[in-house]
Amino acid sequence: APSMAIQNMSFRLGQSMAIVGTIKPDAANFSVNIGNNDQNIALHLNPRFDAFGERDTIVCNSQQQGMWQQEVRPGGFCFFRGENFKIIIKLTSTGFVVTLPNGSKICFPNRFNSDKYSFFRFDGDVRIKSFEIY
Ligand code: GAL
Repeated sequence: APSMAIQNMSFRLGQSMAIVGTIKPDAANFSVNIGNNDQNIALHLNPRFDAFGERDTIVCNSQQQGMWQQEVRPGGFCFFRGENFKIIIKLTSTGFVVTLPNGSKICFPNRFNSDKYSFFRFDGDVRIKSFEIY
């Protein structure tokens, strides 16, 4: 599956990240990954249209030394095949606050407790149109 990584920007406590993309018409799933490197991901945000035996489900997790940790399913699903989306992620003292395309928010704990991440990877059936940290 396609993948795009960015390794030369930093995302710090108090900052927000805006991601705009287009979901492929036949998408199975895609993910937004924020961490330190390929093996250490603090936030894996994985909308599943039809993947790993699940439909229309958002799965969040972290990965430490290449090992997946405890999954969280926040509930709700507001992504549509073939459509554009915008996600905003803010790194706060209580964790990653994710604003979904319909305006609802989910919070995922900052399990590594780091105040700076500098590795970002987008996987799966999505085309990223813009990525901004502010
Ligand atoms: C696995 C899947 C990974 C990742 C992980 C999250 O089943 O293969 O891509 O989504 O779940 O816990």
